[in-house]
Order: sequence, then structure tokens, then C-alpha cells
Amino acid sequence: MYVITGATGNTGSVIATRLLSRGEKVRVIGRDASRLKGFVQKGADAFVADVTNAAALTKAFTGAKAVYAMIPPYLASTDVSAYQERVSDALLTAITNAGVGHTVVLSSVGADKPKKTGPVVGLHNLEQKLNSVAGLNALYVRAGYFMQNTLAQISVIKSFGLLGGPLRVDLPVAMIAARDIGDWAAEELLRVSFSGKQARELLGQRDLTYQEVASVIGKAIGKPNLTYSQFPPQLIKPALLQSGMSSSLADLILEMSEALNSGYMAPLEPRSAQNTTPTPIETFVAEEFVPRFAGKAAAG
Ligand SMILES: NC(=O)c1ccc[n+]([C@@H]2O[C@H](COP(=O)([O-])OP(=O)(O)OC[C@H]3O[C@@H](n4cnc5c(N)ncnc54)[C@H](OP(=O)(O)O)[C@@H]3O)[C@@H](O)[C@H]2O)c1
Repeated sequence: MYVITGATGNTGSVIATRLLSRGEKVRVIGRDASRLKGFVQKGADAFVADVTNAAALTKAFTGAKAVYAMIPPYLASTDVSAYQERVSDALLTAITNAGVGHTVVLSSVGADKPKKTGPVVGLHNLEQKLNSVAGLNALYVRAGYFMQNTLAQISVIKSFGLLGGPLRVDLPVAMIAARDIGDWAAEELLRVSFSGKQARELLGQRDLTYQEVASVIGKAIGKPNLTYSQFPPQLIKPALLQSGMSSSLADLILEMSEALNSGYMAPLEPRSAQNTTPTPIETFVAEEFVPRFAGKAAAG
């Protein structure tokens, strides 16, 4: 049996669906049984648990052939770093006590660095904690910047007629579609051939600047002259708070943006066939961005 944390999320849902379609036994974890129903209809076992609950996770992981482990985002947490530590402690306890042999762990580009990378420090710490588990085979997927992050630009475009954020206009970023992470992780889980502790970077289809993203979105929504502007942190923070983020998370996002802008947080591997994934930004924009953009337009 495979156990998938964050099963209703961007990456977990792709993994659970793929494993189920291959006829594998799958246990999906989430906080709400009703959200897991779709997987149950496809044959999965639903397990309701909070990822901060070590005892519940231990029960969920017991007997697993392999586990997909992740730290879900908690946008409103007043102390995001402390929340991340609680989750990684719970994952560590559960993986150890359940005797999990193989785990694919969602991490990030920049997780090699112990500090100054915002929320990615929590992923560095998760890797470090799991490295201490003797006999555990762990594959850390150090993914690039999720294309899903660009969905936050919908309200910016609607309000200001442009894209805006903390990243430099000319900064090339390894942007990846979450579905590519899910597909890749599912294949690794099916093979379970990794051993020891390994980190692998996944860098998406190509590097993109936000200006290039603006151009792709612009063409797709009929605004071919759409541009991107870098905004200073003092303008970004109120916008992040307005979007529902806590001050704690907003500060971490700004720290990460600084780390990206300066080049401190960057892929360690040169781009290669192994760390390049198939989905281009054009496909993501057509299939995920445009419908959401249109939905918001229709709503108001
Ligand atoms: N954004 C980026 O650029 C980036 C880059 C690299 C790595 N990452 C990592 O990717 C993670 C997000 O991955 P994702 O996009 O696949 O996840 P996601 O779509 O944000 O969702 C994960 C799922 O976790 C569940 N969840 C949330 N809080 C939970 C809790 N306390 N206990 C149990 N389940 C909980 C939610 O399902 P229910 O509501 O059904 O419980 C949610 O659907 C980030 O947290 C970060 O660690 C992100």
C-alpha cells in the first residue's frame, strides 16, 4: 500500500490518481473525508488526519510500501516556521515508528541552504530530520517554483492591468507544473528503486522570467502587451496580507524572493534531460490559468 499525504493537493492528487490507475493500493490522507471521496470511489482507503498529529500519521503509515511526504502550506499561520517544524517532527516520528522503508519527500530548490530562504528552510530541516533515520530510503524532490504560484497574478491583472511581484524582471526561474512533480514522484514510488538518502532537482520544462510569463498570459487572455513589474517589499507585503497570508508567511515569502533575486537560492544542477519535465508554461496557462481567470471575470 502507498500512503499519500496532501492527497487532495496539487502534487498529491496527481500521485494518488496515477497509482490508482495502475491498480495499486493507495491510502489518501487529508483533513476532511468528504474531500477524499473521489479517491475512495476509485478504490482508495481514506484516512483523516492532521499532518501535525504524529500518532495519527504513525497509524496511517504502518504497513506502507512507500510514503509520499510533504509539508502542506498553512497560509494563515502566525508562525509558519514553527508550524513547519511541528509537521516535520510529526513526519519524522511517524516514519520512524511505523518503520517506513521508502519515502518520496516534496522539497524545493534551495533546500540545500540552512537559512535565509524563507519557507524553504522548513524543507531543509525536514530533509535533515529524515537523514537521521537509519535504514530509511528517502528521495527528496527539490522542485522548482510552482507555475501554480502565478495564479496569484489573476487579481493583480484585474486590479492593475499588469503582473507584479517581488522577483526581478530579468530573473530566470526554473518554473514547474505541479502535475509534472506528481507524475515523476508516482513513477519513483512505483519503482521504489532509490536507496539511501538522495536529493533530486526537478526544474520544469524551461527557465522563465516573469516578463516571459506575462507575455504568455497576455497572448492567452487577449492582452498581448501585458508586462511584469517588480514591486518593492513595502508594497508587496500589504498585498500579501490582503490576499489572506499571515504576516509571518509574507515575511518568509519576501525573504525567499530576496534569496532568488540575489542568486543565493538557485538550482545546484545544470539543466539536463533528467531534471527537465514536459509541461510548458503555455500548457499550464491554457489549461489552468485561463479558466481561473475567466471564472473570476464571470464572477465579478
Ligand atoms: N509553491 C512553490 O513554488 C513550491 C516550490 C517547491 C516546493 N513547494 C512545497 O510544496 C508544498 C505544496 O504542495 P502542493 O501544492 O502539492 O500542496 P497543496 O495543493 O497546497 O495542498 C496540500 C494538501 O494538504 C492538505 N492539508 C493542508 N493542511 C493540512 C494539515 N494540517 N493536515 C493534513 N493535511 C493538510 C490539504 O488537503 P485537505 O484540505 O483535503 O486536508 C491540501 O489539499 C508547499 O507547502 C511546499 O512545501 C512549493
